[in-house]
Amino acid sequence: MTAPSYPATRLRRGRSSGWMREMLAEQRLHTSDLILPLFICDGQGCEEPIASLPGVSRWTVDRIADKAREAADLGIPCIALFPNTPQPLRTEDAAEALNRENLICRAIAAIKSAVPNIGVLTDVALDPYTAHGHDGIVDEAGRVLNDETVAILAQQALVQAEAGADIIAPSDMMDGRVGAIRSVLEREGHSDVAIMAYAAKYASAFYGPFRDAVGSSGRLKGDKRGYQMDPANGAEALREVEMDLAEGADMVMVKPGLPYLDVVARVKDRFGVPVFAYQVSGEYAMIEHMAAAGAGDRDALILETLLAFKRAGATGVLTYHALHAARLIRA
Ligand code: PBG
Repeated sequence: MTAPSYPATRLRRGRSSGWMREMLAEQRLHTSDLILPLFICDGQGCEEPIASLPGVSRWTVDRIADKAREAADLGIPCIALFPNTPQPLRTEDAAEALNRENLICRAIAAIKSAVPNIGVLTDVALDPYTAHGHDGIVDEAGRVLNDETVAILAQQALVQAEAGADIIAPSDMMDGRVGAIRSVLEREGHSDVAIMAYAAKYASAFYGPFRDAVGSSGRLKGDKRGYQMDPANGAEALREVEMDLAEGADMVMVKPGLPYLDVVARVKDRFGVPVFAYQVSGEYAMIEHMAAAGAGDRDALILETLLAFKRAGATGVLTYHALHAARLIRA
């Protein structure tokens, strides 16, 4: 079919007024598209601003439920929790990840009792708990050990599920972790706990502010290219997604977001499963710095990028802008 051309077709007619654009919009943002990541810190009654993420703070467990309520009241369906583990508790074996009284477990309990109507997603990976900042157990040569790490991740997921997590999100990129987590959850009576696999997670330069937020940036030895994906690869992302779905993932994630919209679109087209994009810390910082420099309108940048995720086929977006975006959407 050849497209009818000018003057039979004038595409600008569809852009000629606000109501027309509104009527013809292919995508719309809704507050239920958003997942809000929250950082937790030790102590009491505290908010700790994160310098590299202007406008984002870490909250102590006693204050985290208030943030969850703020999100729920705005129509955000789910929050994602990340701990800044006290430095003395970070060890070679990441034992704190399995402590039923760790920051994550206490935060889940606080949120579940105060705000029962919001979903709680927890990250499974060892980096907030290891002395070296890697997502798994490291041998003498500095290699991250796959199978030994997977055994611990499955236990970590179980500890989080028992504390009340609704969605387990493995972000470690070990092979076989989704299957190991699914079978432990099934065996221990948590068949309703969902898995959102960070299926296509790239070794990205955009994670810098996050590592600062969870206190692992100064510690990380080397880089994560031995387990996170090479930014050069797209077809491999489909293999990752296929594996994670076969192992029992209910939904998958692509991360980072904007530089990988092609991957979001390919995953959606190929598999038709719920696919989430993580607009990561560096993407957030990029928008904040651009707006602060007077080089762009902050609200417009936020809404445009979120809409782009939807256009690419994302079911939803994890974004540090979630609260502000929800207010903009409702306005
Ligand atoms: C840890 C994890 C990371 C992010 C989410 N979970 C960082 C990393 O892999 O080093 C990054 C999120 C962000 O940058 O906002 N496994």
